[in-house]
Amino acid sequence: MTRTVYVNGEYVPETEAKVSIFDRAFLMADGVYEVTSVIDGKLVDFEGHAVRLERSLNELEMRNPVTKDELLQIHRDLIEKNDLTEGGIYLQITRGAPADRDFAWPNPDETPSGIVLFTFAKNLVEMPSVKTGIKVISIEDIRWGRRDIKTVQLLYPSMGKMMAKKAGCDDAWMVEDGFVTEGTSNNAYIVKGNKIITRALSNDILHGITRAAVLRFAAEAQMEVEERNFTIEEAQAADEAFITSATTFVQPVVEIDGAQVGEGVPGKLALRLREIYIEESMKTAV
Ligand code: PDD
Repeated sequence: MTRTVYVNGEYVPETEAKVSIFDRAFLMADGVYEVTSVIDGKLVDFEGHAVRLERSLNELEMRNPVTKDELLQIHRDLIEKNDLTEGGIYLQITRGAPADRDFAWPNPDETPSGIVLFTFAKNLVEMPSVKTGIKVISIEDIRWGRRDIKTVQLLYPSMGKMMAKKAGCDDAWMVEDGFVTEGTSNNAYIVKGNKIITRALSNDILHGITRAAVLRFAAEAQMEVEERNFTIEEAQAADEAFITSATTFVQPVVEIDGAQVGEGVPGKLALRLREIYIEESMKTAV
């Protein structure tokens, strides 16, 4: 099926969608993005993604070409036009396309921001990898220092995913100064007894929207949450491990650098948290 996508104010077939070769996201990775999941044709935590988008834009002094209400409408239009029941919506805002390549930012009054959105279909509720759990390797975190801004400079995460694949694994956890920062495209957690441990928020990691919801639901379910650094060794010796993101929700991790985590099967607490997350998110989905 040819998808209908949104490009700079227009809904067009994906085969006709065009952006300039001078677009700064293309030349300089000068763009930010969001991925919002869709279940039952509804957006999960649209508000959270809209707020983080605004923050990313502000940090880079980039203008948002649409209002929050317009953004919600575009998301809804795309769900409808593409008959999307389950999957997600990718949104990207760039610093636009000036007349030429230049390191200095263009004047936003002359070069408006660019905006692109498209849908993707994906089984999110019934994911086969939830039953088996995923295997991760550790790699050094050599990304830049503003990982809290959701920019499109994803080359290193992409390389990390390839390193994991070459090692026969599913993903990589990045390590800086001996401590796990996050997964290539997800936040990382370990479980010890009834306690969930995950790195505290800072510029070192992306402030996951799924993370915020999961930690809130965990506290409501009387699970203990500790936000602190942990090492790969501590993770290997933990009872459980898992990741969260808009495209995986809560996903159990069963192996880290070849060492089995817990019993080597998806952990009970991670699976329970996944159930709660899906149930609660659907209640507030728009
Ligand atoms: N990635 N950390 C990184 C580095 C990420 O790229 C992501 C999301 C997350 C989780 O954030 P959230 O819960 O808001 O999805 C953490 C998206 C899904 C992606 O790049 O496809």
